[in-house]
Amino acid sequence: MAYSFYSFAITLFIFIVSTHLPILAWCSESGFSIELIHRDSPKSPLYDPDSTPSSRIRAAAERSHSRAIYFRDAIHKAHLSSSALPMDDANNFYSEITPNTFEYLMSFYLGTPAKKVLAIADTGSDLIWVQCVPCEECYTQSAPLFDPQSSSTYKTIPCNTISCSLLPQRSCSASSHCDYHYGYGDKSIVEGYLSTETIGFDSTSGRPVQIPTILFGCTHQSNGTFDKNDAGLVGLGGGKLSLIRQLGSAIDNKFSYCLPLSTETSATSKLNFGSNAIISGSNTITTPLISGSPNTFYFLSLENISVAGKIIAVGKPTQANESAQGNIIIDSGTTLTLLDDNTLQSVERSVKSNISLTQVNDPNGVFNLCFDVSGTGASTQFPEITFQFSGGASVVLQLPNAFVEVGQDILCLAMISSGATAKSINIFGNIAQQNFHIGYDLTNKQLTFAPTNCATQ
Ligand SMILES: *[C@@H]1O[C@H](CO)[C@@H](O)[C@H](O)[C@H]1NC(C)=O
Ligand SMILES: *[C@@H]1O[C@H](CO)[C@@H](O)[C@H](O)[C@H]1NC(C)=O
Ligand SMILES: *[C@@H]1O[C@H](CO)[C@@H](O)[C@H](O)[C@H]1NC(C)=O
Ligand SMILES: *[C@@H]1O[C@H](CO)[C@@H](O)[C@H](O)[C@H]1NC(C)=O
Repeated sequence: MAYSFYSFAITLFIFIVSTHLPILAWCSESGFSIELIHRDSPKSPLYDPDSTPSSRIRAAAERSHSRAIYFRDAIHKAHLSSSALPMDDANNFYSEITPNTFEYLMSFYLGTPAKKVLAIADTGSDLIWVQCVPCEECYTQSAPLFDPQSSSTYKTIPCNTISCSLLPQRSCSASSHCDYHYGYGDKSIVEGYLSTETIGFDSTSGRPVQIPTILFGCTHQSNGTFDKNDAGLVGLGGGKLSLIRQLGSAIDNKFSYCLPLSTETSATSKLNFGSNAIISGSNTITTPLISGSPNTFYFLSLENISVAGKIIAVGKPTQANESAQGNIIIDSGTTLTLLDDNTLQSVERSVKSNISLTQVNDPNGVFNLCFDVSGTGASTQFPEITFQFSGGASVVLQLPNAFVEVGQDILCLAMISSGATAKSINIFGNIAQQNFHIGYDLTNKQLTFAPTNCATQ
């Protein structure tokens, strides 16, 4: 009884938010799973057969660095806008991710009849958008653009609606359509009409899933450094416009993913919704999802990092509202783990003092702490590194979660600096998350980790 009342309340909430009554075509008693495609995997249109593990990790490190700047700036702006402090013009523009910093793609269907779209899957933003006809000044896209005229279920949203007010940057067109304007960190822009459509997914069980009346952006103008292979973006963040929050009670406010090791290039990653995202068993650990600003990001509280039993206390944010803000963001779209300077230096010192191998320089100049592992075989002992999240959640990293091979026989600690301690935000990246089934429960505000062989899941 409690559940049905709850789901009614959520449905009502979506009704209020979207001003369109959604008919949840898909039963909330079960769940579904879809495939996440890593950008560097052979299944990805961005796959470069000439790339090497070393060139891929270098590019991923650059993207991780750009994303860290995006997270830091977005948090800074969110705090400026919630305080009485005046915002200068340069900051008065909500900055999304730098377009090319994503790591995973997902496909979905849009419209009636349904058109397949391959888009960026992003836990660091909310709005779902695709490029639409007409798109005269748009970045080049190899797949056909979505044509709203050819879909019987397409509807635009008027400006004077609560849905429209959820957009961070909006305006009203002459025809009273709700227009969105997203500015990206590198001066790229995406603009169009907030709209609703039927969205669908190929579930890995073979049973297709269809959900009507999902809010999305029909982009009619865009530019900048987007890749021709992505036709848009699916926001999986915690804000009201994200796919997760819009599916809401239909997925019991739960999603999860399981990312195999990056060395297992033919293994598939899965994104799970609803009951498929429930993680149970004796080896699960949970930590609270912490409310923060912007609510898009999944904040956690990281208390300590232990290296071979030595405890390093991790600092709390100073610029943020301490009572309401975690000190680390968990993000699937950032490859490396980023730590503030003080914490990173302590971790590096502890790792170094526990490893008897010869220290060498990273030939790419990305990582501070690398070792020559030639001739050591399996005998080398690496220190156990554990991330201790609040609630007593100790996430024990395995060797491939903490170290990456950057060249022949060179292994580096897969953590880089997020900047000066007082101003930076830590990020728990996707290398550290590999081979954990990670569940996000937005109702109970809990994150669950379960060590899992994701390749055989
Ligand atoms: C995109 O367009 C905007 C507005 O016309 C312009 O200010 C910006 O410089 C352009 N960015 C790129 C990367 O071309
Ligand atoms: C910090 O957040 C708490 C709880 O949301 C709120 O009561 C308090 O006013 C906030 N403080 C500042 C300085 O923003
Ligand atoms: C590294 O730490 C482990 C666990 O505390 C310990 O057994 C080992 O002796 C240490 N190795 C070195 C070289 O300090
Ligand atoms: C962090 O370390 C402190 C001091 O050793 C300890 O009291 C606390 O329980 C640790 N936190 C977690 C989450 O393990």
